[in-house]
Amino acid sequence: MTENTKTRVKFASRFAAVATTVGSSVGLGNIWRFPFEAGQHGGGAFLLCYVVFVCVLGVPLLCAEFCMGRGTRSNVLGAYRTLQGRGRWHYAGYLGITASVLILSFYSVVAGWTLEYLIQSLSGALKLTDTPAGHAEFESLTTGWRPLLWTVLFLLTNFGVLIGGVTHGIERMSNILMPVLFVVLLAFCINSFTLPGFGAGIEFLFSPDFSKITPAVLLSAMGQAFFSLSLGLGGMMTYASYFSEKTRLARTATITAGLDTLVAVLAGVMIFPAVFSFGLSPQAGPTLVFEVLPYVFSRLPGGAVWSVLFFLLLVIASLTSTVSMSEISISYLCEEKHMSRRRATTVSSAIALIGGVLCALSFGPLDSWMLFGMNIFDLFDYTASNVFLPVGGMICCIFVGWKVDRKFLRREFAVNTPGRKRLLQILVFTLRWICPAAIFLIFLNSIGLI
Ligand code: TRP
Repeated sequence: MTENTKTRVKFASRFAAVATTVGSSVGLGNIWRFPFEAGQHGGGAFLLCYVVFVCVLGVPLLCAEFCMGRGTRSNVLGAYRTLQGRGRWHYAGYLGITASVLILSFYSVVAGWTLEYLIQSLSGALKLTDTPAGHAEFESLTTGWRPLLWTVLFLLTNFGVLIGGVTHGIERMSNILMPVLFVVLLAFCINSFTLPGFGAGIEFLFSPDFSKITPAVLLSAMGQAFFSLSLGLGGMMTYASYFSEKTRLARTATITAGLDTLVAVLAGVMIFPAVFSFGLSPQAGPTLVFEVLPYVFSRLPGGAVWSVLFFLLLVIASLTSTVSMSEISISYLCEEKHMSRRRATTVSSAIALIGGVLCALSFGPLDSWMLFGMNIFDLFDYTASNVFLPVGGMICCIFVGWKVDRKFLRREFAVNTPGRKRLLQILVFTLRWICPAAIFLIFLNSIGLI
């Protein structure tokens, strides 16, 4: 996207700004991670906490990252450096870059599963069945050395997109295909009505049992909110550095958060009725969605076509997210380390490849490598999503709330925003007090201190 800092590229229109931030946020986080996290953490209770976090932490933090990115027009590290004066806040940038590589590693494995399911659907080899055979099918496709091939293939595709400078192509493609994904999800939700487990699934997802709101549920719902909105690492900051002056930040933040949450809820409506029809446990973990989907497709006329279409869209949604994740380290290497874009892309992809290989093998040959009861894949996911993202987010809101000059914020928010004075007051108050306090309390709570 950037060739170099001086001739920094900008998104062509306000629509493009929304489309790319939605492209970054909508991905496997919504369709794969949300259902399995909700499944493991009490369904309705999780959804409720999640929505509260999106509103209270997500939207203000999106605004904060947008401000920093567009106002400084630089990568994460550069943004902190430009605004911090003599502080040392830019270490948060290193945290973000490290976490983005961790996330890219396990994300590519799931994107690899998606790619494999796409190819299997295309060749007609994916068994669409209405018996609970999904688990065996998933195991046969994803254990041993096999996932390695698909993870590497996905990372190569990601590399190709980044190096070929076809980022714009991907953007254009996602402008068209994201709405298609939306329509396809809607069709699956309608299909859910016809399933025997519809009532049970909907009740599980939408009726919160307050006794299920435990520290673990709060922590994972917060982690999911950060993950799904691409927050906490400076991903949105990096993208906002390509926004034009005309982009309205608060509005873009609200639209992004709204659409992203809608997609996650639709994914839940698609998955849970099927889970209950199947007699499967919603607690199956990261494999949940892949085990259930063949069942969903088998109920639809022309199921094979739906499955090809769905996995194709999911691969593309994943690509628009991994492109944004990669952009965090690439823009850093280009601008701070003065590498050419080609070299920066190669370096960042090579590191992600090592992480990706470790994660890919953690369901097979390396499944005995465990720490705190988690394999490498789960460990990367847990540490990045539940620790690094919230910590990164906390630093960002404290920084913007307390340290950044108010005039700077006023300028960023002055664009076409009615009622901006009041809005800014609310935003700064939330960033100063509410966000850091909430994140901190949830941390203390989850390690058992309160
Ligand atoms: N939000 C994306 C998803 O839901 C994942 C993602 C993209 C991300 N860029 C990120 C997560 C940056 C954290 C940070 O699939």
